[in-house]
Amino acid sequence: MKIFIDTANIDMIKEINSWGILDGVTTNPSLIAKEKTDLRTCVKKISEIVDGPISAEAISMDAEAMIKEGKELSSIHPNINIKLPMCTEALKATKVLSSEGIDVNMTLIFSPHQALLASKAGARFVSPFVGRLDDVGQDGSEMLSQIIAVFRNYDIDTEVIAASIRHPMHILEAAMFGADIATIPYDILKKMVTHPKTDEGIKLFLADHERSKK
Ligand code: E4P
Repeated sequence: MKIFIDTANIDMIKEINSWGILDGVTTNPSLIAKEKTDLRTCVKKISEIVDGPISAEAISMDAEAMIKEGKELSSIHPNINIKLPMCTEALKATKVLSSEGIDVNMTLIFSPHQALLASKAGARFVSPFVGRLDDVGQDGSEMLSQIIAVFRNYDIDTEVIAASIRHPMHILEAAMFGADIATIPYDILKKMVTHPKTDEGIKLFLADHERSKK
């Protein structure tokens, strides 16, 4: 499973990239606003750090404007894909952008039906929001597994990005289902590294090493 970081924070991206495990980055308008930056500047900086897909989200709400915005954003760097919010206008824009070689990441996916339509329109990625579905008392992981099963049935090559990840169990489930990618917030990536038994083991090995020198 590929690992993306879900942030617009440049320092966090640099740090995780230095681990040698980072395959790409997703941003969204909320993440951009949190960093008090603008989308163009931010994705340009990210493209200088990470060699992999970078999602930049369009904010237009009609197909023509989405296409225009998508073309402008994708001209910043070849690794940039255009995030469009799932709706009929986004399907139309996806058809055009994808036929012109511009990758689309259909975002705000909450059902297999939406994912299927996005893939048929030519989206390279779909982003099911697992955590936000859990938030309203539905099963986000179940929705993710259904999308993966449907795509497998028909050999659909649209990549599934497990998004809106809230805890390490979401990542484990995504990997067990066979999601292509998980886009993960910084603090959860940090949690993936550690285990109390690992920390305990390191302490013990170092203490034993010190003792053996005496
Ligand atoms: C996906 O690309 C989105 O940026 C993201 O995962 C949204 O997650 P949230 O529900 O934590 O805002």
